[in-house]
Amino acid sequence: MLRTHTCGELRAEHVDQTVTVCGWVDSRRDHGGLVFIDLRDRYGKVQIVFDPSQGDDLHNLAGSVRNEYVLKVTGKVVRRAEKDVNPKIPTGEIDVRSNHLEVLNASRVVPFEPGTLNPPNEELRLKYRFLDLRRPRLQELMVFRHRLTKLVRDYFDRHGFLEIETPMLGRSTPEGARDYLVPSRVHPGCFYALPQSPQIYKQILMIAGYDRYMQIARCFRDEDLRADRQPEFTQVDIEMAFVDREDILQTVDGLVAFLMQEIRGVQHPLPLPRLTYAESMERFGSDKPDLRYGMELKDIGDIAANCGFGVFKNALASGGRVRGLNAVGAAAKYSRKQIDELTVFVGDFKAKGLAFFRVTETGLDSPIAKFFGPEEQQAIIQRFDAKAGDLIFIVADQPKVTSAALGALRSRLGKELALFDPNEMHFAWILDFPLFSYNEEEKKWDAEHHPFCNPVPDDVGYFETDPGKIRATSYDLVVNGYEGASGSVRIHDPVVQQKVFDLLGIPAEEAEKRFSFLLEALRYGAPPHAGIALGLDRWVMMFTGCDNIRDVIAFPKTQKAADLLSGAPSNVDAKQLKELSIKIDEPKA
Ligand code: AMO
Ligand code: AMP
Repeated sequence: MLRTHTCGELRAEHVDQTVTVCGWVDSRRDHGGLVFIDLRDRYGKVQIVFDPSQGDDLHNLAGSVRNEYVLKVTGKVVRRAEKDVNPKIPTGEIDVRSNHLEVLNASRVVPFEPGTLNPPNEELRLKYRFLDLRRPRLQELMVFRHRLTKLVRDYFDRHGFLEIETPMLGRSTPEGARDYLVPSRVHPGCFYALPQSPQIYKQILMIAGYDRYMQIARCFRDEDLRADRQPEFTQVDIEMAFVDREDILQTVDGLVAFLMQEIRGVQHPLPLPRLTYAESMERFGSDKPDLRYGMELKDIGDIAANCGFGVFKNALASGGRVRGLNAVGAAAKYSRKQIDELTVFVGDFKAKGLAFFRVTETGLDSPIAKFFGPEEQQAIIQRFDAKAGDLIFIVADQPKVTSAALGALRSRLGKELALFDPNEMHFAWILDFPLFSYNEEEKKWDAEHHPFCNPVPDDVGYFETDPGKIRATSYDLVVNGYEGASGSVRIHDPVVQQKVFDLLGIPAEEAEKRFSFLLEALRYGAPPHAGIALGLDRWVMMFTGCDNIRDVIAFPKTQKAADLLSGAPSNVDAKQLKELSIKIDEPKA
């Protein structure tokens, strides 16, 4: 070992010891003879002092180093004078008085200082990711990620789960996103697909008798990226045989309690709350509501039915709804201009407008208040449990639009009004999702989750009559407004599986071609089975309060799915293409 201690571990108890530490120069300051260097490694920072009395050579060498040089420093740990103690850093009580310095390596002038609190733009950070990863915040996130992953493995190991790896080069599985394809050299014109998830393999493992499976699994999806999505991400993938829904929920409940205990040191109450999908949409306008605060949606269709405001009446007459929410105490916080901005915002969710009422001591104040008599105004105030100073927002539209717009408005207002404690973790199950949703554009049924999800047995009769009514045996775990995990009881009957493929418009021969191996396996003694997958990256975000998924992944990709560090994706040699029998047909610019 080149070092006796790490930079971050030195404390007052080390005073008088001679130590050797290695690290990067975080900063260097010359103070009339004394040279101070803050030396950083992933354990922290320590101040090194070079005193001219140690000789010119050492002193000049110390004066010549620049930020991000790599040093090996030997010296004595000394206590700082009382006035120089820095209580803000763990090593703030001591200095290392150096008598030996070795420059292990120099560094070019860095495009940004890993030690600064204000990171530069993300493009630069991603290009020089090795510097970015030196930042204490990112190092903390990487350490936390390691710890979380280890705890998850420990939990499942203790409960008898086996971690089994499944292939990266496989056949495409229909999870809804586009596949990343890998051409085969040996089979010209044929492609592997990188897994969108190990879904089919884990079901086959159940059929093969490995009744408790888990895997920290890489998944690849060529889809539009957002702040909480990456093209390449990690799941904690789980599958169990001879179980029903309840067993999966309890297993994950146990995991949550274990993690909360180990990470936060708190006893989290179980069982985790459960809501049906219908209830969640009704109360929060979303299937992943942030439940750290209330601000529930209310329907005022009955009150609006007889009002004089045409927009509300027309919406009701054409099968729509009039719903809204109450931003408690917000009447004075939102100007007309800000409300106009919110109107544009709900417009992104197809709402044609956003009505508002400021609640006063005497009634409602709004450009449209005149359409509501005193009794109607009081009824609205009561419906929202509102009082003077509150601000009520209303959307009148088709039921789906009112949910989407108000659900999004609720989560925006929740943030703007700081309605929650950012450290709180709120977990809840959403159950009884619809199995299918109708795709208006393509005029066909889509699987709401994926095509292997078992229908609620009571609803199987609706396949022929009203597929929209079929409930799925699926479940999502929502955490602070994120979808943290998702899963279902699977179909283990090939006949039901075929019905689902039929409804999804996957022709028999196509299903046979794409999933023959699953359909075939289901015919050879498939046990009832169920599973779930947790988005590991998102769990790291939730526990650390980080809102950018790229910060919890060591080498992430940009919104355009590029790796700025390595330059992937890139062109390849003509020779490589030839071997793969591939000709590039570049789109015209
Ligand atoms: P699903 O597609 O819902 O289910 O994914 C499970 C969980 O993975 C996370 N997740 C993502 N995280 C980061 N970037 C992405 N692009 C991304 N996509 C999904 C989410 C999500 O809840 N095979 C099924 C699971 C099962 O049925 O067992 C599946 O993949 O947190
Ligand atoms: P208008 O009469 O169209 O000028 O609208 C008067 C108010 O009603 C404005 O604040 C609009 O934003 C709002 N509004 C218009 N359409 C809707 C709607 N579908 N739902 C809720 N409010 C609306």
